[in-house]
Amino acid sequence: MYYGGDYNPEQWPSELWPRDAELMRAAGVNLVSLGMFSWSRIQPAEGEFDFGWLDEVIGILHDHGIAVNLATATASPPPWATHHYPDMLPQLADGTVLWPGSRQHFAATSPVYRRLALELVTAVAERYAGHPAVVMWHVNNEYGCHVPYDYSDNARDAFQGWLRRRYGDVGTLNTAWGTDFWSQRYTAFEQVLPPRSAPYSQNPAALLDFRRFTSDATLELLVMERDAIRGAGAAQPITTNFMGPFHALDYWRWADELDLIADDSYPDPADPQSFRRAAFTRDLMRSLGGGKPWILMEQAANAVNWRPANAPKAPGQMAALSMQAVARGASGVMFFQWRQSRSGSEKFHSAMLPHAGTETRTWREVVRLGAELSPLPEIAMSPGDVKVALLFDWDNLWAVSNPDHPVELDYTDIVLRWYAAIHRQHVQVDIRTAGHDLSAYDVVIAPLQYLLPAAAGTNLIDYVRRGGHLLVAGFTDIVDEHDAFRDGGFLTQLGPTLGIRLEDFGALPECDGVSFRLDGADHTGTTYAEEIQLAGATPLARFSTGRPSDQPAFTSHRAGAGVAYYLATLPDDDGMRAVTRHVFARAGVTGVLPGAHPDVEAIRAGGYLVVINHTDRHHAVTLDRHYVSDNAPVTEVELPPFGYAVLCRPSEAATNASDRQHVPARAHGSVG
Ligand code: GAL
Repeated sequence: MYYGGDYNPEQWPSELWPRDAELMRAAGVNLVSLGMFSWSRIQPAEGEFDFGWLDEVIGILHDHGIAVNLATATASPPPWATHHYPDMLPQLADGTVLWPGSRQHFAATSPVYRRLALELVTAVAERYAGHPAVVMWHVNNEYGCHVPYDYSDNARDAFQGWLRRRYGDVGTLNTAWGTDFWSQRYTAFEQVLPPRSAPYSQNPAALLDFRRFTSDATLELLVMERDAIRGAGAAQPITTNFMGPFHALDYWRWADELDLIADDSYPDPADPQSFRRAAFTRDLMRSLGGGKPWILMEQAANAVNWRPANAPKAPGQMAALSMQAVARGASGVMFFQWRQSRSGSEKFHSAMLPHAGTETRTWREVVRLGAELSPLPEIAMSPGDVKVALLFDWDNLWAVSNPDHPVELDYTDIVLRWYAAIHRQHVQVDIRTAGHDLSAYDVVIAPLQYLLPAAAGTNLIDYVRRGGHLLVAGFTDIVDEHDAFRDGGFLTQLGPTLGIRLEDFGALPECDGVSFRLDGADHTGTTYAEEIQLAGATPLARFSTGRPSDQPAFTSHRAGAGVAYYLATLPDDDGMRAVTRHVFARAGVTGVLPGAHPDVEAIRAGGYLVVINHTDRHHAVTLDRHYVSDNAPVTEVELPPFGYAVLCRPSEAATNASDRQHVPARAHGSVG
């Protein structure tokens, strides 16, 4: 289990470095991410490198038994580079240049940036590839975070090249984009621009392709750096830090290129439900890797500095959020950053070692977590632990965010709300796409599969035929991969499996809701109430109020050995719980800890059960199976505010009893 954080020693006099290393040891730190923003110190001028200071820092860390996740330092080009080559700067859609003075001021497609970044990463990798302290490589930092999209001339040229490769000839592009609408027909690829500021709505297929292109073009940087590191002979795992369900990069594609998935996570401590989004993100990271290791690469030890009001974490909250990752198999818990910055725009951001030093709650909690993590067993989900898949993909995130739909929908927000409804019932989920192999799941939930490529449609149909339970919510199977309607209108693929026809979307103005009655309770639908016709399906609920009164709201249909459900509205949170509960009951899916408080998280992974209290109140949890903690049987767990406990099945305890390392600790909270 790795424990540590970003370390920026160049911000401090070298006399302090040995002291840092000693304090790291005291905190249980065994890994630091080094050199994240060190370009200007490593390369003071083009063709000139200064590794002396970095050699010294790595040497000190190594002498103290602290390993290094070495960054390639390409995230913030130095002033000499942008001064000589202003052409590498990115631009907004309206032509505004993003000047230096902050960070990430590079156009991903700039040939000059790519050349300079390659020179740097090659030099760094050649120097440290064989260093025994370096156990991991960290490419760049949070690609796309501040500059998700670039509209510069560099981007224009690269976009045209990407379109040429994708479509071959401009006629095919015209068909895919439907350019006969508003006289947009191109006669040469050179005429195609990034979607720069325009008088009115842009071509949605062009917007979608520009997003795909941006993700691919940025991914080229990662691959370039990764290959340079490998080319220098480095054998350590290579990663870059993701940002949860970040909108601009298709992490499904990115994950394929990495050895190790890494995530940065900053839930708002002031929001009592922010742990749920964090849970989703951790399940997403676990799922993206498909078995590859993953690590919580950054979190805050306490408050951040970039919200309008930066609430501190409550006592214990940092550990509780960390345990969400550990319970889902994370192989490390890391922070931004080790020592709080003296200067710069992040000087108010918390760190493991605060300005106020070691006589602080932050430091005590950091030390305590380090001590609690080291004896923990390796916890990893095994295949049978998860019976439900929730579909999430970037093509839909992008296509749904295009303008001019019947009603505005926030794709990520909707997926997260469905996730929350499931999570509150303590049902474990994998995140998948409609194209993945879904055969391992009893239930698949498609919250908003607006864009459904033919192969993905066939996959969902097969899943049901073979015995799966598919829950499909509205505005699904509307367009093809070019954001265009297919012949036959909507639900052209899933309609027969669902046993319904969709006639119209029935957008609801914000003030209008509809209700439907399911399993003896009334629930609210919002945003839209679709007009559907039964074509074999059984109505499980009908709208009981408003315009669509008496029309089907929720249906089920047997298809082959499985059942397909359709929900014709976007329910409120309570309605989402009711609908998923209904489907889970029919499919025989049960929660990990039925009856536990919804804000107490329970994660079952292999022979382990981790329970985490995300509230500021005490909660008692009654266990439904035999577990042990510290080799003593446990039937109930008393969790203090933000407390957690790691329990294991008696068989695990027996297997591990001979090895102290593998006996689960009674961690942060009284158990018994
Ligand atoms: C991350 C970034 C770090 C630091 C941190 C502050 O997005 O990777 O370098 O800026 O945010 O919360």
